[in-house]
Amino acid sequence: MKRTKFYITTPIYYVNDKPHIGHAYTTILADVLARFHRLFGADTWFLTGTDEHGQKVQRAAEQASMTPQQQADTTVVRFQELWNRLGITHDDFIRTTEARHTQVVQEILKDLYDRDEIYRAEYDGWYCVSDERFFTEKDLVEGNCPECGRGVEKVREANYFFRMGKYQEWLIQYIEQHPQFIQPDFRRNETLGFLRKPLQDLCISRPKSRLSWGIELPFDTEFVTYVWFDALVNYISAIGYRRDEARFNRLWPATYHLIGKDILTTHTVYWPIMLKAAGVAMPETIFAHGWWLSGQTKMSKSLGNVVNPMDMIDRYGVDAFRYFLMAEMSLGQDASFTPEGFEARYNSDLANDLGNLLSRVAKMIETHLGRKLPAPGELQDVDIALRDSVISAAHETIAAVERMRLDQGLAALVGAVGEANRYIEKNQPWTLAKKGDIARLQTVMYCSAEALRIISGLLYPVMPLKMAELRKTIGLPDGPPSKEQFTAWGGLIPGTETAPAPILFPKLQERKEPTTADGAKPTEKPARTFEEFKKVELRVAKVLEAERVPKSEKLLKLQVDIGGERRQIVAGIAQHHRPEDLVGTMVVVVANLAPAKLMGQESRGMLLAASDQSGALVLIRPAGEIESGATVK
Ligand code: ME8
Ligand code: MG
Repeated sequence: MKRTKFYITTPIYYVNDKPHIGHAYTTILADVLARFHRLFGADTWFLTGTDEHGQKVQRAAEQASMTPQQQADTTVVRFQELWNRLGITHDDFIRTTEARHTQVVQEILKDLYDRDEIYRAEYDGWYCVSDERFFTEKDLVEGNCPECGRGVEKVREANYFFRMGKYQEWLIQYIEQHPQFIQPDFRRNETLGFLRKPLQDLCISRPKSRLSWGIELPFDTEFVTYVWFDALVNYISAIGYRRDEARFNRLWPATYHLIGKDILTTHTVYWPIMLKAAGVAMPETIFAHGWWLSGQTKMSKSLGNVVNPMDMIDRYGVDAFRYFLMAEMSLGQDASFTPEGFEARYNSDLANDLGNLLSRVAKMIETHLGRKLPAPGELQDVDIALRDSVISAAHETIAAVERMRLDQGLAALVGAVGEANRYIEKNQPWTLAKKGDIARLQTVMYCSAEALRIISGLLYPVMPLKMAELRKTIGLPDGPPSKEQFTAWGGLIPGTETAPAPILFPKLQERKEPTTADGAKPTEKPARTFEEFKKVELRVAKVLEAERVPKSEKLLKLQVDIGGERRQIVAGIAQHHRPEDLVGTMVVVVANLAPAKLMGQESRGMLLAASDQSGALVLIRPAGEIESGATVK
């Protein structure tokens, strides 16, 4: 796994519409890979951006009564804001309307034209607006676009063509001799299948009479450049091709062009041949991932089933969203998104397994070891077994990143979390504490915390915010776990102070509401089992600050302390309690509710209060002296 350089790209997205879950997916995947390779010490460069020319964008602008540039300028912000919220660590963001890009495209065109790689001819055929691609009569499937199935338009005009066909044999050979070039393997076979038919020359111009929004051809001002011939160049224009030779040579060839399967042909046929004709080396790997489906159905605007990433973040938080996308998709295959699937995985992997492990470890260290990491004694067989399984999960994760099987890497880490939870159950640190076997308790807690150190380090690229919180709790320094030994035991320093455990992943409520056979809600409330009741975490909290929520008659915004953790809770009690009366008092809260937003204010928990027929609302408070954070049982 010793890469010295890692240059990764995402597709540049069209600015005809706001981003959706698919765009978020590719960009998060690139971010996770970039973060991993940064951790592993590679010279890493991560490029994303927007594709701003072409018919799609021009049409969207017309519909919105804007100029194409205004359309691009407003939509690009939607992408940039989303990447910001998702914690994307791209090193550069290229827009194809920037001069640093358009000028390089023109220089490449001019050079190819001068060397007769581009020629002028009459064109007669079919055009798919959605894919921005030309097709011959033979290519069409039942008269429609062979790529997307949409209708095509007949066009007849003079145009400029790139001599792509003459490189067909070269490309087939190159792909056959470089098995890593197109991944996964079945995608390579798809491209080779495509190349069994004769490869046509590529029409790389559009007459301005039909499309004006594009880069003007340097040798004929009546035309603009075909959007794909412009867009693909971003991968080299952004890193200094023809401008900064040292930088370009440092970063090129790209380690990965990440793409969705929809744009396989443009990336594995057009792009390699463009590079070949321009005399530029091939990228190492073009990796095509599968499709996110809404349930079993393709997401589409007309079906109204497109998942909006901003909504997901609001509801579940950034890191849980990142984790789900990475854990749920086997790279290459399609994956299905459903709220039920999301919540089930969240609850099992994050709330129950990882969150629980952290709170157990931190609480034991806090209660019995004076909030300091203990020094381990001699390791027993159980300790060695835990150590070995955590280290082997770490090796497996690192190998899975290299194989582009993040889902498997994450599964190995969740497996290690399970091991650590079982280890705690087997060793019963609470019993050791009761018996006064402090030496053994110290070893058990050190090993448990050490498991968390390694696991959180490897989960950091996927969930940077939550893992930073976790690591702070077990006394690790701020920031990414640079140069840390993931595969060596014993990184935690005994004596380091730990912190009270935050509730990293509040458990989400089960979605299913009980219904009767006819689908109606049952009239009788079903009795709850004790197990179910125990899932509600009730804690004593101290109110630190309280204020009214502007423009709301009912809501108060409280800052509370729950055993050292500060939280904001929005409560509908403004008509019954004055903020200044609440500060300093003790209340009881439901601590493991999913975060919610009320009038734009985040609320992480719920206050318990009693009300009766009179309309009075009285807060529930502990009747005696007790510390904040105490559990209500
Ligand atoms: O094609 N599932 O841009 P685009 C998974 N501008 N990934 C998805 C997806 C889904 N349902 N929907 C979209 C373009 N994607 C060109 C690219 S590159 C030089 C030019 C992701 O806005 C996936 O990465 O249509 C796909 O390839 C990309 O968005 C297409 O984005
Ligand atoms: Mg598309």
